[in-house]
Amino acid sequence: MTQRWTATGLSQDLPKAVAMAGHWQGHDLAVWRSASGRLQAWNDRCPHRGMRLSHGFVRGETLACIYHGWVYGADGGCKHIPAHPALTPPATIRVAAFACVEQDGVIWVAPAETVGAPVALRGLQPLRSISLTCDVVAVRLAEPALSGDDVLRGLVQIGGQACEVCLLVQHGASGLTLHALCAVGADRIAASRWLEDLRRRAERKGAA
Ligand code: FES
Repeated sequence: MTQRWTATGLSQDLPKAVAMAGHWQGHDLAVWRSASGRLQAWNDRCPHRGMRLSHGFVRGETLACIYHGWVYGADGGCKHIPAHPALTPPATIRVAAFACVEQDGVIWVAPAETVGAPVALRGLQPLRSISLTCDVVAVRLAEPALSGDDVLRGLVQIGGQACEVCLLVQHGASGLTLHALCAVGADRIAASRWLEDLRRRAERKGAA
């Protein structure tokens, strides 16, 4: 298994006290931000009966499972079991944590033991994330100015001007999610329209 940083979302889409689903190379993750802003990426499976923790509720610096309300602290350990309020949960009840960093407005995840840093994206600003029902080959066919595999970059025409864009590829079961960045100062509305048009063109290529 390749140990590498993968973009799983944009910082702007995960406010404080919110949990969302993320992915790392086929692993489902619960990515959540505590009330104070601390970011976590955990295995998306409650140790109790396997409910998705990404459906849970952030309470202060903890994440509570939506099913039976087991509460997990910042270290991934279970801190409270509502059905047994007097019980101190055993330390063995713990959620597996991934490494998780924010850089250039992007949320990156990797296995906990991964060393090094994600790719630097200087001069670019986060735009938006978009899902496509095709593969990376179809995206490159639709926009030949883009090159790369997990990180697509290139100079494209947006609103009649050349603009640098970067699309961070997240693979899913039924297609891709692209986390898009564009050059600082670019017209964000025009860039967003370009991205939607790219999706249409890429999905047509993928279906051909
Ligand atoms: S499945 Fe999560 S608390 Fe029961």
